[in-house]
Amino acid sequence: MKLAVIGCGYLGAVHSAAMASVGHETVGIDIDEPRIALLASGKAPFYEPGFDELLREQTGGGLLRFSTDPAAAAGASVIFLAVGTPQTEGSNAADLRYVDAAVESLLPHIDANTLIVGKSTVPVGTAARLAEKIAHTGAKLLWNPEFLREGFAVQDTLDPDRLVYGIADGDTASVEKLDDVYSSIIEKGTARIITDYPTAELVKVSANAFLATKISFINAMAEIAEQVGADVTELADAIGVDNRIGRRFLNSGLGFGGGCLPKDIRAFQARAIEVGAGESLRFLEEVDRVNLRRRERGYDLAAREADATSTKRVAVLGLSFKPNSDDVRDSAPLDIAARLHATGYSVTAYDPKARETARRLHPGLDVRDSLADAVAQADVILIGTEWSEFRELDPSSLETPAAVVIDGRNTLDREHWRAAGFKVVSLGRRTLEVEA
Ligand code: UGA
Repeated sequence: MKLAVIGCGYLGAVHSAAMASVGHETVGIDIDEPRIALLASGKAPFYEPGFDELLREQTGGGLLRFSTDPAAAAGASVIFLAVGTPQTEGSNAADLRYVDAAVESLLPHIDANTLIVGKSTVPVGTAARLAEKIAHTGAKLLWNPEFLREGFAVQDTLDPDRLVYGIADGDTASVEKLDDVYSSIIEKGTARIITDYPTAELVKVSANAFLATKISFINAMAEIAEQVGADVTELADAIGVDNRIGRRFLNSGLGFGGGCLPKDIRAFQARAIEVGAGESLRFLEEVDRVNLRRRERGYDLAAREADATSTKRVAVLGLSFKPNSDDVRDSAPLDIAARLHATGYSVTAYDPKARETARRLHPGLDVRDSLADAVAQADVILIGTEWSEFRELDPSSLETPAAVVIDGRNTLDREHWRAAGFKVVSLGRRTLEVEA
């Protein structure tokens, strides 16, 4: 089939290449010229495991191309909307300007044979509004939210947990059309839920709200554990055994960041207020607050430990918002590193993949190209992201004057670090002092 994807960020770029890989002739469209030039030359503009290879294969294979011209979507039978919906400056609401601009730009190029498939995360009510906007062209709209996780984007696109289709009343023709696009996924027996527009839109934001709540729940338990000398990791292990609760997303630490969960829970609250259900999501305000307090706690612990030394040097290991990504949007460890730097500490930082993105956002921060270099003159080491490079580190072989490690993600083998001579400070767990 002939497909177009509008928006070539994490979602759209991966979606374009994935659709080409299952045999569709696909064009990815974005207004960002340097990004499109990179993609067209087969190079990924961001780090995502497996994406580089997939992109190289597909751009070389003749089915995938990229363009900055919305007219390139003309003739496509299905056009995916995959543009960003960032937080509006000065408000919690989602900024829909890119979604609206994308649809406007398509109007001259679509007709009754076109199906537009919305994948962007939008406030409930957006699909119905966009359907009205395109109605005069005869094109149809289906809302198909995306649940991919960064770090697993390729896998999640080609082998998702579920497909959700939000359709206008009785629009089975659009369902059949999208089924044809996704036939290789559907053949695997993937769950497919067909519903209306508002439910499909809500599935996406409520899933993210649930995940954010789960993380803040365990982080609230970490706060209590710190007060009473309990251990939040053992607590998570114990409650997580209960299938009704489940152990996943109960990892306590510096909290959630990235381009999705923080802005999505805020936009969801803003939308709830607009539709007269503000009270229903009031708890998400608290979820956000718990989350931001964990960053404060991470900063305070690093500052406290560094203040106990004469040189106050902190090495921050891990700057991306999660492992296997170079994304530093709303990243807790990068925030902490920047704040430590701004408040007079001597900070050296390192990340396996997010060095360039971190330098771009915080040019003043001293980001080193190797872990060894970052810790070579540090008094305190803060683990900010649970990259395997840090988890698998042999602390006894580290050449560093640091005598303290702060485990910001509760990811280290604490006894191992203590045995290597480190005081181990954790969030929500007792401090391990160096063995006498
Ligand atoms: C999230 C959702 O998990 C995806 O399903 C969704 O499609 C995506 O947002 C989106 O809306 O596009 P992602 O932002 O890639 O995906 O990252 P997550 O794996 O959800 O992690 C988010 C943050 O929570 C990270 O900072 C991570 O370190 C933190 N986290 C995660 C914890 O602090 N504890 C945990 O137990 C799990």
